[in-house]
Amino acid sequence: MDKRAIAFFDSGIGGISVLSEALRMLPREEYIYYADTRHVPYGTKSKEEVRAYVLEAAAELMRRQVKALVVACNTATSIAIQDLRATYDIPIVGMEPAVKPAVELSRSTGRRVLVLATPLTLSERKYAELVSRVDDGSVVDSLALPELVDTCERLQFEGEAVRRYFRDKLASVDLSRYGTVVLGCTHYPFYRRVLEEMLPGHIRLIDGALGTVRRLAQLLAERDLLNPAGRGRVTFLSSGRDPDDIRRMETALAHMRQLREAVNG
Ligand code: DGL
Repeated sequence: MDKRAIAFFDSGIGGISVLSEALRMLPREEYIYYADTRHVPYGTKSKEEVRAYVLEAAAELMRRQVKALVVACNTATSIAIQDLRATYDIPIVGMEPAVKPAVELSRSTGRRVLVLATPLTLSERKYAELVSRVDDGSVVDSLALPELVDTCERLQFEGEAVRRYFRDKLASVDLSRYGTVVLGCTHYPFYRRVLEEMLPGHIRLIDGALGTVRRLAQLLAERDLLNPAGRGRVTFLSSGRDPDDIRRMETALAHMRQLREAVNG
């Protein structure tokens, strides 16, 4: 048993979509959630910049003696997970777009897979390797949504401007060909409700949060690091100067819990 906190890290509020799963599955842990709001968004920057930001944030979290680190950001994972694992010897769990389960689903639906993610995630070798490993029937396509992270950071989760954005982005996509849409950025599950309303009813939306938290739980159990006595407290931290950051993160967590409850019943 180990009472130290588990650190969650993202460029902004996106990783809260993963934290909310952790609070459901591991409610007796203590958490630190760190948002690099000074540098958000990552997905439109260069990989050198993003690598430096991620290493700086990880160093800050390690000073707080955390027992595990969840890189709750697909972009940061694709750029820096190897460096992090080479530097620190606590369990480090990363994220990648849920392409594998989506390809498995496509075998039964007979329809294609559309991966939504940041430009940087989609242009990285890690993504190309993932697709070539699991996409044996060439059914996976992708679409970058470079503007959506900023919209999400403003807590703008629905409304006409958001709908117009998705309509424009998807205008040239023949949705009848797709059976599964992968939310390959941790900010995107905040748009699950809007997307469910806008996309044809046969399309399933999947994200990687549950798989990531299962992996975290498994690693903690294997290394005897679980905490049966904690209270599920979350300490929010940000690198930004905006005093409003913490309130935004709390609002985002409340919103995500509602969304997940609606989905999980
Ligand atoms: N939430 C991050 C992800 O999962 C990226 C957001 C950003 O572009 O900063 O990819």
